[in-house]
Amino acid sequence: MFAPCHVYYGTLIHSLSLQELEIIENGVLIVQDGIIAQIERNVENIDAFLAASKLDDYKLHCLDQHQFLLPGLVDTHAHAPQYVFAGSGMDLQLLEWLNKHVFPCESAFKDVAHAEAAYTKVVSRFLRNGTTTCSWFATIHLESCKRLVDVINTLGQRAYVGKVNMDQNSPEYYVETTENSLKDTRTFIEYTQQQQQQQQQQQENKGLVTPVITPRFAIACSSALMKGLADLAKEYKVPIQTHLCENPDEITFTRSLYRESASYTAIYDDHGLLGPDSYMAHCVHMTDDEIDLLAKRETGIAHCANSNFSLHSGLCDVRRFMAKGVKVGLGTDVAGGFAPSIMDAMRSSFFASKTIKALQRDQHNNKDYAYLQPAELIYLATLGGAHVLGLQDKIGSFAPGKAFDALWIDPTTSSGTIDLMGQESQTQIVEKFLFAGSDRNILHVFVNGRRVSGAAEVAIDVGDS
Ligand code: GUN
Ligand code: FE
Repeated sequence: MFAPCHVYYGTLIHSLSLQELEIIENGVLIVQDGIIAQIERNVENIDAFLAASKLDDYKLHCLDQHQFLLPGLVDTHAHAPQYVFAGSGMDLQLLEWLNKHVFPCESAFKDVAHAEAAYTKVVSRFLRNGTTTCSWFATIHLESCKRLVDVINTLGQRAYVGKVNMDQNSPEYYVETTENSLKDTRTFIEYTQQQQQQQQQQQENKGLVTPVITPRFAIACSSALMKGLADLAKEYKVPIQTHLCENPDEITFTRSLYRESASYTAIYDDHGLLGPDSYMAHCVHMTDDEIDLLAKRETGIAHCANSNFSLHSGLCDVRRFMAKGVKVGLGTDVAGGFAPSIMDAMRSSFFASKTIKALQRDQHNNKDYAYLQPAELIYLATLGGAHVLGLQDKIGSFAPGKAFDALWIDPTTSSGTIDLMGQESQTQIVEKFLFAGSDRNILHVFVNGRRVSGAAEVAIDVGDS
């Protein structure tokens, strides 16, 4: 028996490009088996539309006035274990912060039960905040990394998961040998890909979790490890994520370890880690030549503005990257960033951009700097992130053939955090949600057509499609 399709009727809002935000009034989305089969604009009479359509088995879900559907949010960079101390321990800069807070926290994830409990909390929280796709760093521990994959599969998020690699310049209680690091990474990739294939065969979830090669950063990885990881990425056709040019002390230390490379970015390039399926977090302090190298390799970046403020790493000017055609997405970088929310990432990115604008005006007498607009922030949080992760044909906007990863937003709910007077334009309503809304305004969170989270107490019946 075929599952019924689901018809959503109301306002649909999504990005067509960096600057074009399309607002579709009276839109219809037809979802079959979790995939968008059809999208229609300006349908005045839904009953007449349905009567004329050839659908024989469907469920209709009508959005109320002012409610709208938005594509699910994409987090291109977050550390799942660090959620346990998110919102605390921001007293230090990067390298000292890693030693004092991060490494002790992550080493405790050797305990699989602890890992499973913490991972259930963090993935649930991210889903509740509308993050339908996330690129996760786990820890160095193979068994706990597998549990993260299991937890995500159970909770229904779309995700990339990386077993972290560290074989040097790390505390003795949290380090691996080069050999074990490569061996465990291979096992982890095979485990995750097997889970994915099994789910695809059983039509469960469609296999939403993909492994990603995850060298922590060049400081913690030997040359042999980085080369071995680049080979594994090729062998198993998996993406690569790491950190790049986050903090001045980090950059100085890194350059001292790899003097033969022309820049920090070139270190990764010299080890085969840059390419169209790679993405780099932070990229705060980059020369034009380094940005050119990323552009040439078609490598994207994860812009982590909250973290860049919180660890006072600096201001990343994403306009410099976008001007050269580098793909840009947003990252929470939990727990360098304190907020497990891409809505916060949009706001932090907005403030970073406004701060650059003020500095350009005050220090360089340049009044022309174009700070990020709301439409651009929504693009970066959805379709931009999808491009960074190579998922632009699957998610990020509403189009036939893409998965139904979406948020059902209610800007008027009494338990929400915004108020409307009733006269607002749809553009104003979206901006209000972006800047002053919260998870309480997100009634339903869908991944691949399934409702996986949301503030609404009554879950919408979307069967098991
Ligand atoms: N660089 C290397 N490891 C980390 C980490 O865990 N967080 C951040 N923000 N930067 C890093
Ligand atoms: Fe990070």
